[in-house]
Amino acid sequence: MANAKTFYLETFGCQMNAHDSEKVIGTLEQQGYTQVEAELDADLLLYNTCSIRDKAEQKVFNRLNDYKKLAREGKRFAVLGCVAQQEGEKIFDRAPYVSLVAGSASYRKLPEMLARLEAGETRITGLDDRQTDETFETEFTARKNPYRAYITIIEGCDKFCAYCVVPYTRGKERSRGSDSVLEEARRIADSGYTEIQLLGQNVNSYRDPQGARSFAELLAAVGQIPGIRRVRFTTSHPRDFTRDIVDVIDAVPTLCDHVHLPVQSGSSRVLRQMAREYTRDWYLERIAWIKSAKRPISISTDLIVGFPGETPLEFEETITLLDAVQYDAVFGFKYSPRPNTPALVMIDSIPDAEKATRLQILLDRQREIQRANYEKHIGETVEVMVEGNNPVREQVIGRSSQNKPVNFTWNHPIAPAPGTYHQVRITRAFPNSLVGEAI
Ligand code: SAH
Ligand code: SF4
Ligand code: F3S
Repeated sequence: MANAKTFYLETFGCQMNAHDSEKVIGTLEQQGYTQVEAELDADLLLYNTCSIRDKAEQKVFNRLNDYKKLAREGKRFAVLGCVAQQEGEKIFDRAPYVSLVAGSASYRKLPEMLARLEAGETRITGLDDRQTDETFETEFTARKNPYRAYITIIEGCDKFCAYCVVPYTRGKERSRGSDSVLEEARRIADSGYTEIQLLGQNVNSYRDPQGARSFAELLAAVGQIPGIRRVRFTTSHPRDFTRDIVDVIDAVPTLCDHVHLPVQSGSSRVLRQMAREYTRDWYLERIAWIKSAKRPISISTDLIVGFPGETPLEFEETITLLDAVQYDAVFGFKYSPRPNTPALVMIDSIPDAEKATRLQILLDRQREIQRANYEKHIGETVEVMVEGNNPVREQVIGRSSQNKPVNFTWNHPIAPAPGTYHQVRITRAFPNSLVGEAI
């Protein structure tokens, strides 16, 4: 494997995983590897995995099964990410042709682990014991997204919600210094990006280790970097959602009109069982702050249905919460029991068919809410950043500041490039997207 080393990388899971992959790719390239698009062409196959629900976890084992015959051809396999951290050395027992198992808190050691792999070692591990204070920073990030640059500002999670694997798969909560975040943001702006998304499992739990800036102050500072036109941040936790975040969105025009604020349930009793540490009313108070902003801040959320013991009436409270908040987007999930989590001792009492029914009711109700919300945009002119195009429908695909997908027609032979901005007049609306024409 001395020269012409090639790798194939597939990513599952959230944006933090997607961005970790950009850093892993940059690190591998720095070590002399070249990325290839097909498994068959690669010497090293890496899977950056997700364990948030059982289905996500199964995907990687299916993949490993599909490709195990490639191991006989001398290809090497690495499992990274949340399943790697969760299962650890058990992965070697299940898939003996895997040579490297590493969780996200160990990626700084990737060059060393790769060297051992190249030396022929097998069963190499990089696993976290929730002790590390290190964040995964590298100047070799290979940004693959043509219009949006991600920056992880806080890693890990200390919240331990009863259903969630993340505190076990991503280690303890640790923030990156705001000076270093700003330095990277300036470099990104200099390289031509105009949109930055700050990332963290609980991005607003950010605590500058040097104490120089609060989260809201960091948002303002990123938003004021010359060249930056859009700043997003995800995911916010209601517990740490402070009023100054709304104030700073009002004050700094480049901060997008959007907050993703996962609620998980509309029932205070279920929220307590989930260990979310807030009540329905406490959450709705934060929503009221956001709605009282001068700017039209769009709100989206995550919801879990069928948490152990959730009664039909408690589920109904989640539906009435949808009506109360009027979200612009909802990501709904059926509760999935996860290894190591406190909820495992609770009986997963709700049959899968009932979870599916509740999820469908939830999504149907939300569809009607979005239909009405999106229709309000007809006749408006919105600024859209281009993300791609749909040649079949001859439409350009983009997003508004509120994070709503906007598809628009364009009467010019050359479609606008990803990352460019256009004023679009909205002519039609669907529950999940707006349609318009460039003006
Ligand atoms: N840190 C974020 C969420 C990260 S995980 C927060 O606290 O809001 C993304 C979403 O996956 C969660 O918001 C939750 O809705 C869902 N999720 C997490 N664990 C789950 C489980 N065991 N079953 C079903 N959905 C789950
Ligand atoms: Fe999971 Fe809760 Fe942490 Fe979010 S805050 S990552 S749901 S434990
Ligand atoms: Fe999945 Fe890990 Fe993200 S479990 S959702 S990849 S933090």
